[in-house]
Amino acid sequence: MSTSAKNFDERARAAFTRVGTTRIRRGELLRHPVYTRFLHWSVAIFFILSLLTGFAIYSPWLFQWITPLFGGGPRTRLLHPWFGLLFDVFFFFQFLNWVAPMAWTEVDRRWVRKMGRYVTNEAPLEAEEVGFFNGGQKLYFWAIVVSGVLFLITGLLMWFDDVAGRWVVAVSYVIHDLAALLMLAGFIIHIYEGTAHQPGTFRSMMDGTVTENWAWTHHPAWYRAVTGRDPREAYEREQQQLEER
Ligand code: HEM
Repeated sequence: MSTSAKNFDERARAAFTRVGTTRIRRGELLRHPVYTRFLHWSVAIFFILSLLTGFAIYSPWLFQWITPLFGGGPRTRLLHPWFGLLFDVFFFFQFLNWVAPMAWTEVDRRWVRKMGRYVTNEAPLEAEEVGFFNGGQKLYFWAIVVSGVLFLITGLLMWFDDVAGRWVVAVSYVIHDLAALLMLAGFIIHIYEGTAHQPGTFRSMMDGTVTENWAWTHHPAWYRAVTGRDPREAYEREQQQLEER
């Protein structure tokens, strides 16, 4: 990341500590500061609005119940590109905020190879080398980066369709719709992972914190980096306490 982007990001994080607070209790760790939560939920709101208005435009069947929510068909069509633009703007800032911890490494390559064990909950702990984000979370992030760029380019070409040639606009429709379907699939998996599949994760985006147990279970290398303690020892201690009860 360039120095000016990094400076901007640090200033924004600092400014947001004055806007909201994060209370960290005993046995908890700070996971997502106020700035990150603000960006995440802004991205989510504009993503959902874009998705709803986009699907309403795409399918006449959905028109019937979605378009009245936005003031009718023509207004839904008018609002969709603006929601999309705002989604891209907020995600751009989230990109600057997260690009460093989202860097792809050898650890992520190994994580992807063993993804089956993660999905089936076969192992009680993540591999000890898994840091702040695991390979699956990084894949989702980079899929949004690619889709965000595709949405922007194809969206502008469809918006100003008198500037581009007819076949360029036609291809833009196909790419835009495919990117939306990819994002919808990712979004469904993301909600499941952030709530039901990983209890204790959702609160990290609400009040900003997670329990230490959650941290050594899902992100052992991050737990080690922030506490200086061994995640496996914490796991074994917990197992022993459970057996003694
Ligand atoms: C509306 C329902 C949503 C819920 C319940 C939700 C929940 C969460 C939670 C709990 C985290 C933190 C995970 C962690 O700290 O390990 C997170 C992270 C993240 N969210 Fe969401 N989110 C939602 C919508 C979205 C949308 C619409 C997007 C973008 C299109 C998005 C993009 C991300 C990304 C890129 C991350 C970081 C990587 C990851 O954890 O997968 N989220 N989300």
